[in-house]
Amino acid sequence: MPKKLLILLGVIILAVSLYFGWLKFHDVFTEIPLINTSNSENEETVTPELKDEAPAGFDKTKYALDKSASPWWVVNKTRPLPAGYVPADLAVPDVRLRLADSEEQMKFSKSATADLIAMFKAAEADDVQLVFGSGYRSEALQRQFYNSYVAQDGKAAADRYSARPGTSEHQTGLAFDATSVSQNCHLEICYANLPEGMWLAANAHEYGFILRYPDGKESITGYQYEPWHLRWVGTELATEMNNSSAKTLEEFFGLPVAPDYL
Ligand code: DAL
Ligand code: ZN
Repeated sequence: MPKKLLILLGVIILAVSLYFGWLKFHDVFTEIPLINTSNSENEETVTPELKDEAPAGFDKTKYALDKSASPWWVVNKTRPLPAGYVPADLAVPDVRLRLADSEEQMKFSKSATADLIAMFKAAEADDVQLVFGSGYRSEALQRQFYNSYVAQDGKAAADRYSARPGTSEHQTGLAFDATSVSQNCHLEICYANLPEGMWLAANAHEYGFILRYPDGKESITGYQYEPWHLRWVGTELATEMNNSSAKTLEEFFGLPVAPDYL
């Protein structure tokens, strides 16, 4: 082989070697990062496992709907109380009362009294003076009330705002009518616009109470709007119902509507 050709071949081999050598060098020192940045904030390298954050489903069967000992006892025009029912744990609660503590209506079930007192104290702390207007009513007392309303307004009208004896939530000892110190709007719709009514609508659920006869639900509950009538069901259910679109016990538990007596 001529010497010139040998030199040319040598130069070509050297040039090719240098070229590939440079590429290798470039790969090592420029393309591959020397510091592992795979955990940087901008780079999601690990698919996080989905956390099970859904709250456990609300157990609608936790308490009975048809037992007097149950906080979820549903009483309405189609679900009367047992004849002559009297709660076993009645007592006068230590809250601001509308009537003398000797009056039957000033009693309440002890099972709901701690929450009642807590609610009255919380309202007081917000400068709202709640008054316990009417709590437990025996079947006999409810009969007196109902009959007087029928005499005053007629049966059809009375049935829209007063329960017939044996079907009133007041007889459970778990419901009460709130009022105000002035007794303005006592058992009237305008109670909803008083500080007391507004406070109860916004906060009662935190203490286990619901407004049992909401506005616009007469075809379900059987009664006109009563912004003063509160029913204790416990904080668990009251809070769940506050977050739900089902504002009546009938809707929440999928019970038949009760616009009329059977
Ligand atoms: N006002 C309610 C419906 C009652 O009489 O029990
Ligand atoms: Zn009432």
